[in-house]
Amino acid sequence: MRLFLATTAPQRQKTGCAIVGLHEGGGLTTSAAALDTALKGRLTRLLKRGDLRGKSGELRLLDIEGAPCERVLIVGLGKPGSFGRKQYRKALVVAVAAVTRTGARDAVSYLAEALATPDAYYDARLAAEAVGAALYRVPAIRSTRKPPQPALQAFGVTVASGGQKAAAQRGLEQGLAIAAGAALTRDLANLPANVCTPGYLAQQARELARSYKSVRTQVLEERDLKRLKMGSFLSVTNGTDEPAKLIVMRYNGGRAGQAPVALVGKGVTFDSGGISLKQPPGMDEMKFDMTGAASVLGAIKAAAEMGLKLNVVGIVPACENMPSGRATKPGDIVRSMSGQTIEVINTDAEGRLILCDALTYARRFKPAAVVDIATLTGACVIALGGHLTAVMSNDDELAGELTAAGLRAEDRCWHMPMAEEYHEQLKSNFADFANACGRDGGAITAACFLAKFTDGLRWAHLDIAGTAYLTGSHKGSTGRPVPLLMDFLIGRS
Ligand code: BES
Ligand code: MN
Ligand code: ZN
Repeated sequence: MRLFLATTAPQRQKTGCAIVGLHEGGGLTTSAAALDTALKGRLTRLLKRGDLRGKSGELRLLDIEGAPCERVLIVGLGKPGSFGRKQYRKALVVAVAAVTRTGARDAVSYLAEALATPDAYYDARLAAEAVGAALYRVPAIRSTRKPPQPALQAFGVTVASGGQKAAAQRGLEQGLAIAAGAALTRDLANLPANVCTPGYLAQQARELARSYKSVRTQVLEERDLKRLKMGSFLSVTNGTDEPAKLIVMRYNGGRAGQAPVALVGKGVTFDSGGISLKQPPGMDEMKFDMTGAASVLGAIKAAAEMGLKLNVVGIVPACENMPSGRATKPGDIVRSMSGQTIEVINTDAEGRLILCDALTYARRFKPAAVVDIATLTGACVIALGGHLTAVMSNDDELAGELTAAGLRAEDRCWHMPMAEEYHEQLKSNFADFANACGRDGGAITAACFLAKFTDGLRWAHLDIAGTAYLTGSHKGSTGRPVPLLMDFLIGRS
């Protein structure tokens, strides 16, 4: 797909499809009005007949003869004033999906002009991300032949402030890179656990190093983890035959010697719960328990694609959590790489057990900041639902940076508290502390556990259990929080 910045007015634009907006109540946007005039009042006639109301998500495709554009797609924008960037992204996704069902080989969107507070860079970037999301197809494994590719090959984006061409162009390019990163994240997360194993994730990380000169990948094997004394990480992988990996990717886009940002992603390729076995309903969704890892690979890819001027190190502890005769048992005590001992109260609280050793490992890179990303707790889904990611941190400034990045990227997160009282819940009679406790405040106590491994680091934790994937009939990875992470990294470059 080729994306380009379009500047020609719709009535003069030669294209397979012009995409214009209509406000609820029948207010034509500037571009729709211009087209209407060129089409001798055809759109206003449609409106008079009551065929179109401009409700959010409403679509109407018109075949045109005698105009430079072959089709017009009218998109309902909802009530005037309610059209923000979130609605803009949604409108673009449904519009692109509609265009791909036609034979149009190219299309141009005029939707950005309806935004109340235009921003050339962010409007263009979000458009590129939306087009990428609309064209994404899950890596389905079916016996029947794949559906034919859409004819659409080029997509034009307009921005409201036509004067800021350079900013819009940069937005488009960075948006394309973010879309490519998010697509990798979604592919990896959507693959079943019998394909996407720790070894597969390691291969994909090596693939990144092959594709981009700026990326170097190193994969540590179980014998290396033993040498590093990662007793906590290794205790999770005891029950499976699938070898665990610690994947380290270095993206070098900043100056040599600049302290990197470390991204640490939970890579549990399947979480059965281990001996503390989960209930069957929804257990298939635990193939998504490596989405944190997938978002780290996606962010590294996006950084390399856009040539981000920053050093980033991606660290992914990858393993399966399975029950067996060799599996870790509730009550077992393990020693983490940090030396601290952990009583494994619940083998289903495995994410923190692999992340704590990865966080300790991250220290050797002397990172400017460490952000871990994990589908860590069901409690987070209870607290924030599927809309916002939780952020917890030992540094309010860093948490603020992430919250602001999420707002700008339309990939929001919410700062949750971490106080001493919560730490008390993790007390153990037999080890330094426990890996699990009562259900109350579960997302926060999980963060408190991780905090015990972050002394002296500027660290934040993103719990993406609610936002990483959708369930039900739209089951699948969302690609979050790649847009948030990239906005955060761009802000630091
Ligand atoms: N991977 C799960 C968390 C999860 C649950 C993600 C639901 C997405 C949807 C994690 O490993 C887990 O099982 N956490 C436990 C922790 C508890 C045992 C302290 C949980 O949330 O129940
Ligand atoms: Mn678990
Ligand atoms: Zn898990």
